[in-house]
Amino acid sequence: MILVFVGPPGSGKGTQAKKLSAKASIPQLSTGDMLRAAIAAKTQVGLKAKSFIDAGELVPDQVVIDLIAERIQQPDCTAGFILDGFPRTIPQAEALDELLKSHSKKIHKTIEFSIPDGELVRRLSGRRTCTVCGSMFHVEFGPKPTSDGCGEFPSCTVVQRSDDQPDVIKKRLDVYHQQTQPLVKFYQGTGRLSSLDAALSPEQVETQVKSLIGLSPEEVR
Ligand code: AP5
Repeated sequence: MILVFVGPPGSGKGTQAKKLSAKASIPQLSTGDMLRAAIAAKTQVGLKAKSFIDAGELVPDQVVIDLIAERIQQPDCTAGFILDGFPRTIPQAEALDELLKSHSKKIHKTIEFSIPDGELVRRLSGRRTCTVCGSMFHVEFGPKPTSDGCGEFPSCTVVQRSDDQPDVIKKRLDVYHQQTQPLVKFYQGTGRLSSLDAALSPEQVETQVKSLIGLSPEEVR
């Protein structure tokens, strides 16, 4: 099962991709996480990506296409994967189709996370993340961050992402509407798109995700 999650920053793609990944035993492929790991490791890709991410702009298409092309060849992707934050432009979507075709695979479903911009600013500015495992916290909605990090690892702390500052959030939302939202029409044209209401609670969004991908009623819990 190959799924694509499309939605603005803060719409809950990562939250739901992590839950589904655990439930369906297929990996979550987040280009954002891959790029942040590359920045932390100071690789060539990381050095190239940092200024774009800090400015709230998209990293050049070929950088992320190469990351995904390499990642989907790993053995844990054989049974499928969840693409979280990729593709984000029409050229990325076209490259993905070509890549999957070359592996005799195709997208099972694309899910659009639909939500008003106002709610996103609140979600992103309150988000905090564990530096070791990526667990997410929220100062308002919880789970609330503590000074012990996520509590699982001796050296972890909980931090705010550098691109979750108000001016960068605004830029990321503008970029989403200009460069990523056209993907909704692109996938509508292929008959592979479903939309969900991402403004509901995480539990309600999870139920919608499972229903859209056709998990049985017992699994929709
Ligand atoms: P990336 O890391 O992908 O960020 P994003 O798409 O902007 O998405 P976020 O991670 O901010 O939000 P999300 O939708 O996953 O929401 P989350 O579940 O975390 O990309 C970062 C940067 O990398 C980009 O700006 C770009 O520069 C670059 N990049 C990445 N991919 C690229 C690509 N393909 N091409 C080019 N450049 C690329 O939830 C957010 C918060 O809300 C959390 O605190 C969560 O707890 C809370 N929350 C979640 N769901 C709910 C709910 N239902 N109700 C209340 N709170 C909720």
